Amino acid sequence: MTVGGIHHLGVAVDDLDEALETYRRLFGATVEHRSTVFDQGVDAASLLVGADRVELLAPTGDDTPVGRFLESRGTGMHHVAYEVADVRAALAELAAAGAELIDEVPRVGLFGLEVAFVHPDAVHGVLTEVVCPV
Ligand code: CO
Repeated sequence: MTVGGIHHLGVAVDDLDEALETYRRLFGATVEHRSTVFDQGVDAASLLVGADRVELLAPTGDDTPVGRFLESRGTGMHHVAYEVADVRAALAELAAAGAELIDEVPRVGLFGLEVAFVHPDAVHGVLTEVVCPV
């Protein structure tokens, strides 16, 4: 599969405002996008840090994917997202290579990006996203 590079790193946090301030203060990060997506259970922000991007994810409640992640793992690294030209083609290649997929078909992710997730068991414990910028 041809990967353009790492599109962003996803980080799970308890409090989005507090985390934004930390990234701004320590690394000079600027906010690219911010939105609360109740049907995905996240209060999220995309930050530009130099030439790269960090996605901060806070849960909107305990019974959400990020809420359950925080409950079991605590705050910290949540996923790595690789940029690809075609999410559907990437999924087909990943499936053909034997990777267990969370999303069998692309879906609309945060900030309108086309995304799909690969199961962490397929990538040595790292939840992995493939993303096509739109
Ligand atoms: Co992401």
